[in-house]
Amino acid sequence: MTAETISLSMAEPDIAVLTFDTPKKGANVLSNSVLDELARHLDALEQRTDLSGLIFCSAKPGIFIAGADLREFVQSLGVAREQVIAMCRRGQVLFGRLAKMPFVTVAAINGICVGGGAELASWCDRRLFSNNRKAEFGFPEVKLGLFPGWGGTVRAPRIAGLGNAVEMVTGGESLSAETAYKMGWASDVVPDDQLLAAAIRLVRTEQTNQEYLNDRKRWTGPILITETELGFLGATASAVIRQQTKGQYPAPDAALETMLESSLLDADAACELEAARMAKLFGSPVNAALLNVFFLTDRNKKDTGIDGKQVEPRPINSVTVIGAGIMGSGIAAANVKRGIAVALTDASHESLVKGGRNVLEEASFDRETKGPNAQRMLELAPLLNLTTSEQEFAASDLVIEAVVENEKVKQSIYAQLESQLGPDTILASNTSTIPITKLAASLKRPDKFCGIHFFNPVRRMKLVEVIRGEKTSDETIATAVAYAKGVGKFPIVMNDGPGFLVNRLLFPYMHEAVELLCEGAEIKAIERASKSFGMPMGPIELYDLVGIDTAVYAGQTMFEAFPDRVISSALLPAMVQANRLGKKTGRGFYSYDNKKGRPEVDASLAEIIAPHIRKQRDFSLDELTMRLFLPMFLEATRVLEDEIVRDPRDIDLGLIFGLGFPPFKGGLMFWADTLGAATIVEMLKPFESLGDRMSPTKLLLEMAAGGEKFYK
Ligand code: NAI
Repeated sequence: MTAETISLSMAEPDIAVLTFDTPKKGANVLSNSVLDELARHLDALEQRTDLSGLIFCSAKPGIFIAGADLREFVQSLGVAREQVIAMCRRGQVLFGRLAKMPFVTVAAINGICVGGGAELASWCDRRLFSNNRKAEFGFPEVKLGLFPGWGGTVRAPRIAGLGNAVEMVTGGESLSAETAYKMGWASDVVPDDQLLAAAIRLVRTEQTNQEYLNDRKRWTGPILITETELGFLGATASAVIRQQTKGQYPAPDAALETMLESSLLDADAACELEAARMAKLFGSPVNAALLNVFFLTDRNKKDTGIDGKQVEPRPINSVTVIGAGIMGSGIAAANVKRGIAVALTDASHESLVKGGRNVLEEASFDRETKGPNAQRMLELAPLLNLTTSEQEFAASDLVIEAVVENEKVKQSIYAQLESQLGPDTILASNTSTIPITKLAASLKRPDKFCGIHFFNPVRRMKLVEVIRGEKTSDETIATAVAYAKGVGKFPIVMNDGPGFLVNRLLFPYMHEAVELLCEGAEIKAIERASKSFGMPMGPIELYDLVGIDTAVYAGQTMFEAFPDRVISSALLPAMVQANRLGKKTGRGFYSYDNKKGRPEVDASLAEIIAPHIRKQRDFSLDELTMRLFLPMFLEATRVLEDEIVRDPRDIDLGLIFGLGFPPFKGGLMFWADTLGAATIVEMLKPFESLGDRMSPTKLLLEMAAGGEKFYK
């Protein structure tokens, strides 16, 4: 017998309370067994004649209900259409009972209330929010390639209005308690400790004025909206969706269509339509891929970075960042934003002052106004110490070096600093290319040294590579992992090696783009192949963003490490020679001499690339796509052979959050599994003449022979 999640108590002799508290879990989720429990409680409560109200509560601080049990979703991915419809109907009918009980029902929402949790709350007569900072209300199902299937698309427009509901369901973003209240979702927002008392009062008010009965009636019928309003809403919402999804994510469109169509139906018929439409999305390749991304992030949250043993991370309460440039100021801001004190230093006074200003602007960035928040800047300022005093920054728990990418400069900083650091202080480098073991060569305590590689721009990129040098200790790794999570990132632990993980996989793809160019493919076609695969930008534009000089330099590192398969093209040095360094100089492959700094085709490029074009021919979209992504995939199999990462899932998480690999493909290795190793071996055959970089690796051949998958 499993322990119960829902317990019944009486707040007053005629007011029942059902409290959710999933045993041994941090959050309440709606699994099949919890739905069974709820059904049993409702059976019993429905029979009672002594009740005036039922209140739903949670015993988890800051969390009401976090949604459906996604592990059960994954187990049901292959089920028949009828079964999906039955799953939806079951939730709709069960929750629907809350709007028919012989007494008023109230959801007392004390924190996160999303997905299935928001649907349960939507079926209650009334909702109340606590002002808990964590409180959020929303329908994030589109992020999993689905839409709400337990009546969410039916209740939301009836309670909050069709326009608001469409925005919530198709966008998938949660609302704060305050915004949800303003939208009409809740009767009030009250302090956390007064939530139950307020819910009891609300039951009493409704018991007297009986308004909930009017709403029950109103919310059972179709929505009051004219054909013209409906047409206008449909056209504007669908334009927004197209812009956001680029046609690669079907769920928001399906949600919109369903909601527009069902608005003319009564609630029962609308529920049936919702279930039928959900059955088309559930189990689709995009749904499976997005569920995989969810589990990749969930797995990362639980990963300590160390396998097979318990290693306690050290607390990090203060950090020094050396180098106040692009990366240093971004890293400092990520710390300050989370309340960690930072000492920032730089060899140049001017860079330090400029970097300091950037830190506060970045740390106080307001997502709604898309700019710095002056009040927040003042609050955060005491956490930032701009200093050149080595004693001050030597006292930190962690020192992150982010100065220029130069081995000698970095090593001389360490040599001067190391003897002044506390016995437990960890020293880390943000280097993107220099091997960690090499950097640690002259350190007295290489066990306290590792790579903590943030990505640019730090505010937006969630990935951090934690790189283990030959002598790095487990405690240093565990501390770096816990620290990176503390500043809101997904850390992946890896062994040292050229390009670490993400850059190592990026280079074969970028190099192939240049090769294609030299074989006569058009820039436009190359970019299109990459973007239609789902990348946020094409490889040629990415060159311009990274900086072509930087790409040449980093490419050299890769060439030296892997001369068998990395081509050193003469085109990129020629671009550098012509001072076409990319966006930073206003010109690279594209020109950026326009008001908005957007990439524009530049006629003068032809002259520079002409001597490097070996032939001219047309490429099909499919050929271009395979030429770009198969080398990346093959390199990933080499990364596994070299044991750079501990699990293929780390590759997928790294590429999605470090490079923007399309989430709807589930990750590079997940995508490869959908094709199958044997099929990929076949797909490589036409490219045999290109040599080692397109040859199947030992691992791939073994997997093809054994019919194995990367995801075990
Ligand atoms: P940057 O050029 O913007 O900043 C470097 C800063 O270091 C400058 O302000 C400079 O004055 C300072 N500096 C130079 N020598 C110093 C010394 N001896 N002591 C103290 N400060 C010194 O460079 P960026 O882009 O921030 O890169 C820093 C590090 O981060 C490099 O190792 C780079 O490879 C790595 N990185 C860069 C990324 C990028 O996209 N820019 C991405 C990830 C890592």
